[in-house]
Amino acid sequence: MTAPALPSETLRAALAGLLDGLPPKQAAQAVDRLIANYRGTTPTDAPILRDRADVAAYAAYRMPATFEAVHAALEAFAEATPGWTPASHLDVGGGTGAATWAVAATWSGDREVTVLDWSEPALALGRELAAAQPALTRARWQRAKIGKDMALPATDLVTVSYVLNELTPADRTALVDTAAAAAQAVVIVEAGTPAGYARVIEARDRLIDAGFRIAAPCPHSAACPIVPGEDWCHFAARVSRSSLHRKVKGGSLPYEDEKFSYVAVTRLPATPAPARIIRRPQIRKGQVLLDLCEPDEHLTRRTITKRHGDLYKTARDTTWGAPWPPPDHSDH
Ligand SMILES: C[S@@+](CC[C@H](N)C(=O)[O-])C[C@H]1O[C@@H](n2cnc3c(N)ncnc32)[C@H](O)[C@@H]1O
Repeated sequence: MTAPALPSETLRAALAGLLDGLPPKQAAQAVDRLIANYRGTTPTDAPILRDRADVAAYAAYRMPATFEAVHAALEAFAEATPGWTPASHLDVGGGTGAATWAVAATWSGDREVTVLDWSEPALALGRELAAAQPALTRARWQRAKIGKDMALPATDLVTVSYVLNELTPADRTALVDTAAAAAQAVVIVEAGTPAGYARVIEARDRLIDAGFRIAAPCPHSAACPIVPGEDWCHFAARVSRSSLHRKVKGGSLPYEDEKFSYVAVTRLPATPAPARIIRRPQIRKGQVLLDLCEPDEHLTRRTITKRHGDLYKTARDTTWGAPWPPPDHSDH
């Protein structure tokens, strides 16, 4: 018996058929238009994803990367909440459904899934792609406009991925407060830029005020020790590029790193990381330098040398975004 395909592989296969029949030139034009729109003024009064060509370009060009970023955030969340599995998931501003695929990749089993977005073409394509993923075939794809009048039903998990950027400050606040009132757990992902980080921190503060605890990435629920303007908390998810992806995005590298900022919070008990590696570890001769966000609300740099024995070996293999020390080492 062959092993079932990973959700990321199934998604890739579903996306591969997407631009079939669309001449490369037309696909490239759709991507150019999309980039131009996203560089323009957001928020907009009407959806940027207006038609099938827009959403096909979005899905081919961005969905593999937003999927990997949300998946990385959810895995960190799941590590902090072992034993918890969402029985219901609401993806707000879900577009073509990248976060629903990421939830299916993180927790197996059936759940109630609802995707809300104001772009009908995005929802239609999301529904089409989801036919290839058994965990999503019963998902509901519903038109909704984010704002102070949006109501959300009670749910285990709300995801908001790459959406805050497109909202007015008032709509951002309304969305975070509505999500907080509806959910047991909220996961917010934004671009890994200073502005993306600022939006994540604003949401993080509101969610803590609403009674949530941070599960990831922070090792505590106190104030973030990063000084805005000097640095920003972000991570990187590796996205392997299919030939379709290379065709649409240009370039020849087999992968790219999607930079993202995130916060994952819960009302249930969670065990956050003892500390989190917040930069790419620097490997030097005989030592590894780790930049850590610590539970005492400080950032520190630790030098792990050969004298640390096994821990040194572990440090050489660890990655940006991982907890430190890993669960099987207690001393650091
Ligand atoms: C960059 S896409 C992200 C889609 C998806 N969450 C992902 O991670 O790939 C932003 C999505 O937010 C939706 N959106 C933006 N403003 C909205 C609003 N006011 N109400 C509902 N949806 C909105 C857009 O239609 C689009 O699908």
